[in-house]
Amino acid sequence: MSEKGLADVVAAETRLSDIDGKLGKLFYVGYDIHDLARYATFEEAVFLLHELRLPTRDELEALDERLIAERELDEFSAGLMPTLSEVASPMSMLRTGVSAASAYDPDGWDQSAEGNERKAYRLIARFPTMIASFHRLRSGQDPIPPNPKLPHAANFLTMLLGEEPDEETARAFDICLVLHADHTMNASTFAARVVASTLADMHSAITAAIAALKGPLHGGANEAVMKMLEEIGDPAGAEAYIKDRLGRKEKIMGFGHRVYKTEDPRATHLRRLSSELGEKAGDTRWYEISQQIEKVVMDEKGLYPNVDFYAASVYRSINIPTDLFTTVFAASRVSGWTAHVREQLADNRLIRPESDYIGPQDQTYVPLEERS
Ligand code: COA
Repeated sequence: MSEKGLADVVAAETRLSDIDGKLGKLFYVGYDIHDLARYATFEEAVFLLHELRLPTRDELEALDERLIAERELDEFSAGLMPTLSEVASPMSMLRTGVSAASAYDPDGWDQSAEGNERKAYRLIARFPTMIASFHRLRSGQDPIPPNPKLPHAANFLTMLLGEEPDEETARAFDICLVLHADHTMNASTFAARVVASTLADMHSAITAAIAALKGPLHGGANEAVMKMLEEIGDPAGAEAYIKDRLGRKEKIMGFGHRVYKTEDPRATHLRRLSSELGEKAGDTRWYEISQQIEKVVMDEKGLYPNVDFYAASVYRSINIPTDLFTTVFAASRVSGWTAHVREQLADNRLIRPESDYIGPQDQTYVPLEERS
């Protein structure tokens, strides 16, 4: 019998990312996340995860052009957005939008390695356009077309918020995208690989991954963190609020991790960005409340913040609406999901674990009319 929740079960071999939970280390293709957060752009991380090496300058430029050329939504997806913006939550929009986009994908049902590569880059390029169009429409505004002069992160914010971010904000958001791009066999990546292993198509695998990311124990935690910060409202109220919740055996969102037993290295960067962006915006309240919560949770439970904790105050300082936080996570993680799907398919075997049967045995079938 394996551990509940498949803890410690190795479900795949991967060349994409690796975690050392004891030392608090994360690597993409052997590169330390601290170096990538310092030096790499999201586009470089995309290349790294898909090509398993860093790009040359020419290769990076070619990738930039490729992503820029794929940013526009197809007519069918763009036509769906007004309805989705009226009836769907952001993550449901993304799940439905990706599923629907499969019908009009230029590569159709082409399941070749080349077809899947094109679908992967197309999906990575289009997530920001979908999220931004949805948000503009639900706010009664026209979608802003992608700006081919802007890199991925700056274009995303421009389409979403209606104005071009300054350099510092654009780079901070770019770092957030780098930090969220891949994370070994997390629930959504596993879901994507399970679906891919049945030889279903790329869009089906990514739709499943979005569905898995939606939950509050996974990507949905960043939204829950922001709601908690708002409920607390003031650093002075953090201690009583957290102790009360822990006293009621409630979990504190943004803390704990299945693999990290020390600080999540991504949280180190997000904490710094939270402080810097708060200062820049002239409002350090969210950072200060977060600091207080971190202290109390450490004292009371010995738990460290995970990637979702400081991401909340970072996104708030950038003015991203709270209910879009998880879609922003998805817009980054789609780079990892698609790379995992391609890796799975390159050496596929159906993922089909066993289960331990714990129900009754040897029951006698009683005809319907004789049952009481
Ligand atoms: N707040 C309070 N207690 C927590 C906690 C949290 N955020 N995370 C874990 N714990 C406690 C549990 O209550 C449990 O205590 P117990 O043994 O006394 O019952 C113990 O730590 C183990 O927790 P468990 O949920 O079994 O660990 P897991 O490995 O299955 O879960 C998470 C990992 C991430 C799902 C879990 O830490 C969690 O729910 N965190 C909050 C949600 C979150 O931030 N998710 C984003 C992850 S990146």
